[in-house]
Amino acid sequence: MSDSITSSLQEHRVFQPSPEFSRRSHVKSMDHYRSLWTRSIDDPESFWAEAARELHWFKTWDKVLDWNEPYAKWFVGAKTNLAYNCLDRQIDAGRGNSTAIIFEGEPYADGKPLEIRKLTYRQLRDEVCQFANALKSIGVKKGDRVTIYLPMTPEAVVTMLACARIGAAHSVIFGGFSSQAITDRVIDAQSHFIITADGGYRRGTTVALKKSVDEALKATDLVKKVIVLKRTGESVNMTPGRDVWWHDAIAGQSNDCPAEPMDAEDLLFVLYTSGSTGKPKGIQHTTAGYMVGTYLSTKYTFDIQPNDIYWCTADIGWITGHSYVVYGALNNGTAVFMYEGAPNYPDFSRFWDIIERHKITIFYTAPTAIRAFMKAGLDYVKKHNLSSLRLMGSVGEPINPEAWMWYHEHIGSSRCPIVDTWWQTETGMHMITPIPGATPTKPGTATLPFFGVDAAIVDRNGNELGPNEGGLLVIRKPWPAMLRGIFNDPDRYKKQYWSDVPGMYFTGDGARRDHDGYFWIMGRVDDVVNVSGHRLGTAELESALVAHPAVAESAVVGIPHEMKGQGLAAFVILKSGYSASDALKKELSDQIAREIGSFARPDQIRFAEGLPKTRSGKIMRRLLKEVAGGGGVKGDVTTLEDFNVIAKLSASDEG
Ligand code: WTA
Repeated sequence: MSDSITSSLQEHRVFQPSPEFSRRSHVKSMDHYRSLWTRSIDDPESFWAEAARELHWFKTWDKVLDWNEPYAKWFVGAKTNLAYNCLDRQIDAGRGNSTAIIFEGEPYADGKPLEIRKLTYRQLRDEVCQFANALKSIGVKKGDRVTIYLPMTPEAVVTMLACARIGAAHSVIFGGFSSQAITDRVIDAQSHFIITADGGYRRGTTVALKKSVDEALKATDLVKKVIVLKRTGESVNMTPGRDVWWHDAIAGQSNDCPAEPMDAEDLLFVLYTSGSTGKPKGIQHTTAGYMVGTYLSTKYTFDIQPNDIYWCTADIGWITGHSYVVYGALNNGTAVFMYEGAPNYPDFSRFWDIIERHKITIFYTAPTAIRAFMKAGLDYVKKHNLSSLRLMGSVGEPINPEAWMWYHEHIGSSRCPIVDTWWQTETGMHMITPIPGATPTKPGTATLPFFGVDAAIVDRNGNELGPNEGGLLVIRKPWPAMLRGIFNDPDRYKKQYWSDVPGMYFTGDGARRDHDGYFWIMGRVDDVVNVSGHRLGTAELESALVAHPAVAESAVVGIPHEMKGQGLAAFVILKSGYSASDALKKELSDQIAREIGSFARPDQIRFAEGLPKTRSGKIMRRLLKEVAGGGGVKGDVTTLEDFNVIAKLSASDEG
């Protein structure tokens, strides 16, 4: 880990929110933002208690925060239920007949989508209660972990909320992950139940989800029941006694299911994410703090207003789907738009077509998608009227200023504020973000900390660095939606996040602050790469490669990639008796697709005779990055064990 990072990005354009936007928003000026932020830092307990009072509690807290570094408990002693807050609280406030979800499936013909479904808050509660009763009937109990492997349909939201309603924790697995990833996560979470579908629609074809589940369950007998939603109608094998159709499971179930009063610190969900070493980590989020953090950040960052139609394009399988498609959004009583499929089906105008037809007002997407739209060209955009939009967001990776400007001019008509939100699976909620009616924005920076967030740039000893000095991005105070631990691995929590910089949460990101105090994220300083906004640990990819009989050793590094932000280069050392070939490259790429998922296929696979290592045996990834980036090897090589290795690597073929 290096703590001196050079930054070369210079950006001077500043965009003020329009007076019109500011006047109508929750936070109307920088003075307003500053006074709220200062209060949230000086007296976090009263700040967060005030936010919490906007929500429903079966019993209120005895204490707002119990902090025993690195362990936080928020709203100690309180009882609440997040599904109750997202549904019953809305209905009690008169929103029973308001739209909760507008869903559009991917299939499209004759210039229109074939499926649009709308659910009011009352209808959504009915479906959630009915499914919650179905879960109980198959034996799901409070505290159990339920695995969810579903397409982006309303049933995914129904399943998550049904779990939350009865106090079962969900573990959602992104539908792009392979069967091996399901096996690993089911075993780690000790999950006895899976909710899946026959398949889902994606890019004009179907993804066979149930088939992956069947494959995954060959390797473990932990799973007792599988509920299968009929979505595509493709044929599937149903294992008698284990598998049951969704429609059979809910048949005859009542749509009344009382919400379980959950303890503030009861587990709400586990979500697996990549770290720099070993297997994915099951990030644990608990009930009350996560609820309050996602509620308030949705309200302020997206400036939710009564008539908004809000669309966050993230899949339910990522933290963005959890916090800003489901919990934060519904808890604000807004109308949530969901789309099942690919942005380029049937062509690159699909998103703009959706915005026009559904009159989307808030649009939240990822830089990788924006870059893909830029490349596809403006013709797709120009055909559509995007005047319903009033606010746009970005998340998942640094947004480059060109992409920011394109988004601003062509999607937002130079009129809509852009919120570039920096946060993580671990933080649960937005941590650094503009507040749209207040914060002047600059292309490429996530700007300033959210309320209650004490973010700083420090060196390895925790000393704060000066303006424009690159360093480590840390958070110095606990916040309500912070992770509470790593499932099954309490020691790793402390080691991973709280030991690099004494007394502070280390994010793994490098960043600098400019003279206005704005944070410019420079990317990960650990061995995690961000491919199209998907966080991948290089250690996981390496172990997938080494699992192939031909591979003795491998090193995977991130390389700059025009569309994906980062791409992957894999260096592979073969066992004796095996020789390099294009056929083997293809096999190794397939191996990654099988073990992790197709989205993780390397951009380059290079065979080498040896890897550059330090005297202590650590792979010198910096050198590999330079080799893979094609720029030749620069810089200091005095710690290299075998100089010849570098020359051979540079000469090795690419592909
Ligand atoms: C990166 C996604 C720059 C960062 C919510 C972080 C970003 C990692 C931004 C978390 C942003 C996310 N600007 N970088 N606005 N948002 N990142 O857990 O490196 O999938 O640490 O959470 O994505 O990825 P994760």
